[in-house]
Parts: sequence; structure tokens; C-alpha cells
Amino acid sequence: MSVLSLTYPMSLLKDNKWYLNDSKLCYLTDEQAKDYLALTGSKEYSAGMHDAETMLISNNIDMIVSGIHEKAKLFDLGCGDALKTIDILKHARKRGKDLDFYLVDINQIILKTAMTNSRQAGFNPRGFQSDFCRFEYLVKVTRPAPQTVVYLGANYVNKDPSILANIRRGMQSGDLIYFSAQNGDGDIERILKQYDNLSMRNWLFHTVKKLGFRPDDVQYFVGFNHDTSDIEMKFRICDLPEKSRCLGFDVGDELVVATSRKPTLDQFRRTAEEYFSGQVLFSPDRSYVAFLGQK
Ligand SMILES: C[S@@+](CC[C@H](N)C(=O)[O-])C[C@H]1O[C@@H](n2cnc3c(N)ncnc32)[C@H](O)[C@@H]1O
Repeated sequence: MSVLSLTYPMSLLKDNKWYLNDSKLCYLTDEQAKDYLALTGSKEYSAGMHDAETMLISNNIDMIVSGIHEKAKLFDLGCGDALKTIDILKHARKRGKDLDFYLVDINQIILKTAMTNSRQAGFNPRGFQSDFCRFEYLVKVTRPAPQTVVYLGANYVNKDPSILANIRRGMQSGDLIYFSAQNGDGDIERILKQYDNLSMRNWLFHTVKKLGFRPDDVQYFVGFNHDTSDIEMKFRICDLPEKSRCLGFDVGDELVVATSRKPTLDQFRRTAEEYFSGQVLFSPDRSYVAFLGQK
């Protein structure tokens, strides 16, 4: 990826903050994929959101699967290792439902990992290396099915909520969607700590490295933006390398490289219901919420 390919999102400069938080920018290269996969294996990552969502799915698996048509097709958008949808498919299979399975991810290495995991579990998915915002196109080029099931999962919180309108356009009446978020009614200070660690910093540093910054030029920190309910993962510029000067940065500016929205339960429900009818599901400790909705 060249520096120039990153100049588009930089037009979003607000209060000394450069918003480079298009989620796919964190997953473009092989190095980014490897560091992300290492992060998903770490304790900090699993103890926070990952374990809570896995519990939420297993506690509600009967309800999730019961609404799925036996000949449906399931899209895992931004699939990562795909282990969560594989669990859903295993349960569906026990109920005699054999779904067409489509994995979508921007990163080739991550997609390969998901394909391997799926095959080892006895499924035969088709993979698309693509931006999942192209869902409307992807759904058209796959085998027709009586129902489409969309697993957006936690990718919902790394995108503007309008991603729901985008996906909805590719859905037909009766199609299902599942998306999730960490519950922002919880202790935000405690949640912030889940993002403030070395594995996270090392993975996110790749984005600023592409802009010419060296490790000592920037300082990683996290903050909560009350206007957007986003946790912002960012680097403060301490020193400006010659190579990066032409990009318009200043010492003291913040480079926001990733965001993760923490909606309150009320915000989460209201936004979901603008687009879909359905219900909110909870993890056992209510730290994690998901919406299972229908168009
Ligand atoms: C936070 S992980 C979530 C993985 C998985 N869905 C889960 O719940 O464990 C984000 C995944 O989405 C992919 N991704 C991020 N933005 C994307 C985009 N715009 N289009 C396609 N894939 C994207 C990344 O490569 C990564 O594998």
C-alpha cells in the first residue's frame, strides 16, 4: 500500500484529529493479518469481547438457528477466523439444515485461515476477498436461495451505523441479520483498558508506519469520544519525519487509526429497529448485546 492510497480518508480532519479509521486499513497487508491473528490468540482480546460474544451465541443458539430456512445461504461479513459462524452452521446441520456458506474478508491470509477452519469442521465455503460493503453485489453473484442470513457480528461497531442501510439494500423481505456490540452501559474506563495494551499497539502501528512514522515518532493511547460513543485508538505525533511532512500533519496531532463504538443498550436497540424488526440478545453478564433481525 502506498502513502498516496491513504490520503483519501485523511480529508476527515477534526480538532487536530485525523480520522484514518476505515476498518479495512488495519487489515490490508500480510504483516497486519499476522499481528491481528496473534492478537486474537491473546488473553487481553479473548477476555474482553471475544469470550462474551461466544457465550452469547452458544446461549442463544437454538433461537438463532430456529429462524434460519433449511436451504438458506449464510454470509459471514469480515469473517476473521470464522469460528463463530462455524458454530452456528454446526448447530444448523444437527437440525438438518445444510446452508450455502460464503466467507468475505478483505485480507487474503485471514480468509485462508477461515477457509481452512471451515473445511476442518466439514463445511465447504466459497470465499471472497472483498470489502464487505459490496454485499449488495456479492449476494447477486451467489447461488439463489430462499433466504439470506447475514452475520455482521462485531464488525458493526467498527463502521458507521449506516452500514446497516447499505447491507439492508442487498436483503429481501424475510432475510435475517445478526450484529453485535459491547454494551456501552458498562464501565467505560474498564472497557478502555482492553484496548490499551502492547499487542493492540503493535498491530495498529502498521497503519502509521505506512505514512512514514517510526516507532519513536508517535505515542499510542486510547480515549472515549462522547459524541460518537466510540473508543478511539490513536497515535499522538511527537516528532514529524521528513517523509511525512507533505501530508499536512503537525506535531501534537492525533492519528485515529481504529474506532470501536460502545452504544448504550437504548442506542443499540433504537438504531437496530430503524432498519430491522427483531430482538436484542444478551451475554450471561449482559456485557455484550446482539440484534437478531429480519428485513
Ligand atoms: C474484528 S475482526 C472480526 C472477525 C469475526 N467476524 C469475529 O467476530 O471474530 C474484523 C475482520 O473483518 C475484516 N474486515 C475489516 N473491515 C473489512 C471490510 N471493510 N471488508 C471486508 N473485511 C473487513 C478484517 O480483515 C478482520 O478479519
